[in-house]
Amino acid sequence: MSITEFEYKTGFPALRLTNSNGYSSVEILLYGAHVLSWTTNNKQILFLSDKAIFAPGKAIRGGIPIVWPQFGPGPLPQHGFARVKTWRLGKTNTNGDVSVELHLSHDEDTLKIWPHKFNLTLTIRLKEKSFYQELTVHNEDNHTFEFTALFHTYFTVDDIKTTNICGLNNVTYADKVDGSKTKTDTNKILEFTGETDRVYNDGGKNANPILINDCIQVIGSSTTSDIVVWNPWQEKAKASVDIGEHNFSKFVCIEVGHVHDSVKLDKDQLWKGSHEITLLK
Ligand code: BG6
Repeated sequence: MSITEFEYKTGFPALRLTNSNGYSSVEILLYGAHVLSWTTNNKQILFLSDKAIFAPGKAIRGGIPIVWPQFGPGPLPQHGFARVKTWRLGKTNTNGDVSVELHLSHDEDTLKIWPHKFNLTLTIRLKEKSFYQELTVHNEDNHTFEFTALFHTYFTVDDIKTTNICGLNNVTYADKVDGSKTKTDTNKILEFTGETDRVYNDGGKNANPILINDCIQVIGSSTTSDIVVWNPWQEKAKASVDIGEHNFSKFVCIEVGHVHDSVKLDKDQLWKGSHEITLLK
């Protein structure tokens, strides 16, 4: 078990967590508390675009961006600011499952655009065959605030056209590529034939495990049972400077979070949301 500090490409401080037999490892940037890769059993589970931009203020395309305190467009920058802020390293553990805690608090810049005092703790834990992340939000202000939160995970796939997802049948979703119409799919398997951008609103009712190609299992907590499924498809990938046409077929985003409504968090209170990803075979 080890935790190594190193400098990633553009000089961003980074950490590498490795478990005891070297079977599994994770690379994390302090910038965005961004998980760039998770390798287990010699397989890279996460997708990171070869055109990803590593620069202050820019979101990184791939890995696991943390979307907080706002999902999607709104008064704040797209997907909030947590993914473009530099987090602090907190407690580390190499006894048993290797883990780290990263922290982000309000500062002058966040208070200007989001006038609430907060402290975030992101726990990242590497287990034998699984990877676990938990976000804790602490309201440090003297009033209630609201947020949405999402682990925006990019999974690597051989080909999006032969990728299938199980576990989302009968869960109502907003179809963002069809005017956000409310729909429900009874098919057990979700397949991809074009641009897909769906927000499945479970709201903590069911929290089914999601299976990607019968091989990777994704489970949220009761507080994070909403799932966003996204692939931009060929044209949008081509138009995107940090994806590119050659990459659209190589990933699917299965994003666990709380987005069906805002979490209302009273002063001094804590909210926790997590997800766990397991390689089944
Ligand atoms: C998904 C959204 O979560 O993220 C999509 O549902 C969005 O609408 C996608 O396009 C990527 O967002 P961004 O800001 O990282 O380009």
